[in-house]
Amino acid sequence: MPRSQAETANSFHDFEPDDQDFLSAILKGLSQPQKFIASKFFYDEAGSQLFEAICQLEEYYPTRTELGILERHKGEMAALAGSQCHLVEFGSGSSIKVRILMDALDKPLVYVPIDISRDHLALSAADFARRFPAVTVAAICADYTSDFELPPITDGQYVGFYPGSTIGNFTPEDATGFLRRVKNKLNGGGFLIGVDLVKETAILNAAYDDKKGVTADFNKNLLHRCNRKLAANFDLTQFDHRAFFNETESRIEMHLVSTCRQDVTISGRCFSFEAGESIHTENSYKYTIGGFQELALNSGFTPVKVWTDADQLFSVHYLAAD
Ligand SMILES: C[S@@+](CC[C@H](N)C(=O)[O-])C[C@H]1O[C@@H](n2cnc3c(N)ncnc32)[C@H](O)[C@@H]1O
Repeated sequence: MPRSQAETANSFHDFEPDDQDFLSAILKGLSQPQKFIASKFFYDEAGSQLFEAICQLEEYYPTRTELGILERHKGEMAALAGSQCHLVEFGSGSSIKVRILMDALDKPLVYVPIDISRDHLALSAADFARRFPAVTVAAICADYTSDFELPPITDGQYVGFYPGSTIGNFTPEDATGFLRRVKNKLNGGGFLIGVDLVKETAILNAAYDDKKGVTADFNKNLLHRCNRKLAANFDLTQFDHRAFFNETESRIEMHLVSTCRQDVTISGRCFSFEAGESIHTENSYKYTIGGFQELALNSGFTPVKVWTDADQLFSVHYLAAD
């Protein structure tokens, strides 16, 4: 199919959260005793590009490990997904991992990438449509924790795809709520989900605090975004990136730590920071295989199959939504 036809096969459904949502979340999060900003706000176009750069880092084992698992077991995964599936990817980013699956799936009909980062999604969806002209692309820009509809289907089944261990950004309680809603949306299909595993603390800490400082830039982009979009005056030189594995909670925590006592104004509201006080910007929970299967069961899914790498760094689970 020529390029223009592939592009017209695309549809783009735009439910991008507006700046007012962003502002409300920031004002609320920075008013808590432990200042907090949800990690979904990392992802504007600059944040999405910085995340792609993180994926290339030597220390960031999750991307290459998950790609290896997908490549090795794509045949088995495709057999479980079945013929003529409607593949729905949550947090699709650059839509790179999905290419491996697409090559293995039997006559996939529709690809539905869902992402909060609008411009990045538009580019990735158009690129995907050029690579897979036989597949209809129905992109959805939305916060997938909010209510949105999937395109209706007449043939085949929905199969969800949620790579990158993005599920780890939810607390286990919120992950259960999210998975329950996903299960209802998939309406009897399957769900392929990448989940990072508990491992040696030094490997985890390095993955979120790389030597080149790319993860630090990714973290600080959040403050840049507040300055650009919310008339804030964060001085980025007065915040440090901090990432560490919290063993009690089994999660990596990322923070932005104020290096001095300072006041910051955001859309006319003033927030004070003590020296050493932090904004908690990300959690990335790490699971055991059994621990994640239990969470999936509690969410109404049936664990069917799990694949890992030789070093047991990462896992990919196929869950049935029946
Ligand atoms: C950790 S990255 C993973 C990207 C890609 N799936 C991968 O495996 O490399 C998380 C992705 O999910 C998107 N995302 C995060 N929170 C989201 C939300 N609440 N709703 C929609 N997309 C979200 C981000 O924009 C980003 O593309």
